[in-house]
Amino acid sequence: MGAEFRCCFFYNAINALLGGMINGLLTLRGAWDKVRVDPVLKFMVVAITGYGMATFEGPMLSLKNVNAIAHYTDWIIAHVHVGALAWNGFLTFGMIYWLVPRLFKTKLYSLGLANLHFWIGTLGIIMYALPMYVAGFTQASMWKQFNPRWHFGLWKLFRNGF
Ligand code: HEM
Ligand code: HEM
Repeated sequence: MGAEFRCCFFYNAINALLGGMINGLLTLRGAWDKVRVDPVLKFMVVAITGYGMATFEGPMLSLKNVNAIAHYTDWIIAHVHVGALAWNGFLTFGMIYWLVPRLFKTKLYSLGLANLHFWIGTLGIIMYALPMYVAGFTQASMWKQFNPRWHFGLWKLFRNGF
């Protein structure tokens, strides 16, 4: 693929990120005090944050030099799940908690349980994704130590000191 073509993809992706984030955050403008009490909005805020993280990271991952580190490692799995769990998952539950009570003309059975769901989910995603990023980067660094003579760069370690 030509460099111009790749560049075009990169900027397209960045523009999509900015458009989505600005749209999401402006929608919340003036409603931040409600975020503290309304589980629907809490889910939405984490969803938009996950969207922002995954779609910022995505174009970075598409750069050849960054991809040379991240490809095949757990870094990609972290990226996948920030998108899948925080963005798609939390958006889905935000919508369900908004829609279902309206469909059935009722109120949420328990705000407390919805909040508990929110916190278990948020902490779970953080505990999943953060170690994955560290593990992915470590994986890549260890693979880069391989060389034809000494696996794991043992030779380099002896030569340069541990
Ligand atoms: C502007 C937005 C995004 C861009 C440019 C982007 C780009 C990328 C890149 C470069 C990879 C690495 C491929 C590899 O080396 O293996 C990747 C992997 C992946 N991304 Fe994203 N990403 C974006 C957002 C998202 C979001 C929001 C999700 C989920 C909702 C997602 C799901 C995935 C999945 C499932 C993979 C693993 C599949 C694969 O390795 O090909 N991405 N993405
Ligand atoms: C608690 C929830 C979840 C856990 C613990 C989990 C765990 C995992 C694990 C262990 C893998 C394999 C990683 C590897 O090959 O090294 C994986 C892959 C994947 N998961 Fe999940 N997952 C969860 C939820 C989800 C959800 C909700 C989605 C989509 C909406 C999703 C999408 C994917 C995809 C697309 C892959 C393949 C990534 C790739 O190989 O590029 N996951 N997940």
